[in-house]
Amino acid sequence: MAQTDLVLYRRACKVIPTGVGTYSKMPDRFGNGFPIYSRWSEGPYVWDSRGEGYIDMASALGAVILGHNNKYIRQKIRQFAGDGEIMSLTHPKVVELAERLVSLIPCAEQVRFLTSGSEATTAAVKIARAYTNRDLIITFKDHYHGWHPWFSYTQPKSAGSGLAHTVSCIEVDKLFTLRAAPAAVIMEPARFEALPLEAIRKWCTQWAVVLIFDEVVTGFRYPGGSAQKHFGVTPDLACFGKALTNGMAPFSFVCGKKELMQVIEKDCFISSTYAESLTAITAAMATLDVLESEKWPIWDIGREILKDLPVKHKGFPCRFMLDVRREFLVECCKRGLLIGPHLSIFPTLAHRGIIDKIKEIINKVASTNC
Ligand SMILES: Cc1ncc(COP(=O)(O)O)c(C=O)c1O
Repeated sequence: MAQTDLVLYRRACKVIPTGVGTYSKMPDRFGNGFPIYSRWSEGPYVWDSRGEGYIDMASALGAVILGHNNKYIRQKIRQFAGDGEIMSLTHPKVVELAERLVSLIPCAEQVRFLTSGSEATTAAVKIARAYTNRDLIITFKDHYHGWHPWFSYTQPKSAGSGLAHTVSCIEVDKLFTLRAAPAAVIMEPARFEALPLEAIRKWCTQWAVVLIFDEVVTGFRYPGGSAQKHFGVTPDLACFGKALTNGMAPFSFVCGKKELMQVIEKDCFISSTYAESLTAITAAMATLDVLESEKWPIWDIGREILKDLPVKHKGFPCRFMLDVRREFLVECCKRGLLIGPHLSIFPTLAHRGIIDKIKEIINKVASTNC
């Protein structure tokens, strides 16, 4: 760990709980041998507080999909900056983007924009409860849906979540043994293993339970733009965020069947002041432009990285993990490849030109029997 990082970290801990912006970036998640802070980024690279550069495979926790600080998006944002940012009336581009998403995502007949993944999943749960007039929400073990009380109640750091006793976190198989219908099942449609999506869809339909796919991570990474399209299973509602703007503005949305989304027009209140940021909308449009014209390239880039890799790994090409010890990742870091011990690897378009370099570093570290 660099001396400059330690000095900054001591300062930070006085004014910021944990000393960094979010849990996944905490130094104890990485450990010795990893930088804590990064000053700038470009394409596949980030630079630490000493000016040391790394190939970044954590891709801002999956928010970056084209590459850091993408020039095309920056140019588009500059182009529309003259129009303003947040206005008192809705900008026509909001409608344009919603139409585009409706034509792209199988379950989306209507869309409501928000600002973070947690907001989108919270909105989906609220819509499901309002629609079914039931309270219980089923989540699955190890699936993550954000920090809001309805979900964090079931997680280890649950203090402050209140008495939200209407969420049950179970193993996937247990779903099929439930005897009372919940309002909804919310799940990540893909993590690091195949999930019985068709059986879950069938069970939800049979019991009139709302099926919510949390595509905050899978969204725009899978071929066709979503896991629901790739696996051919359509949920009732879905949530997207992260890669939507290539990480260049906070943005998310909940979408789904019109019949459910219409509760927002009735008695289900969902509202967010910053949900119509023109920067975010412009960045989302530009990200979609690139991904569509490149025909959803992330899966193939990931596959290329994984080809003949001499270490065990789990997951799918568009998001995976190396099954190695922390020391292996420290050695990769020393050689300029940043893979966090607890972080997924998220391939981006910017990695495409340096796949050989990435493999060379991993192969070299593997040859040391680390
Ligand atoms: C699958 C999933 N859903 C929801 C969220 C929450 O998103 P955010 O951190 O933008 O609130 C995350 C964040 O990592 C996530 O991985």
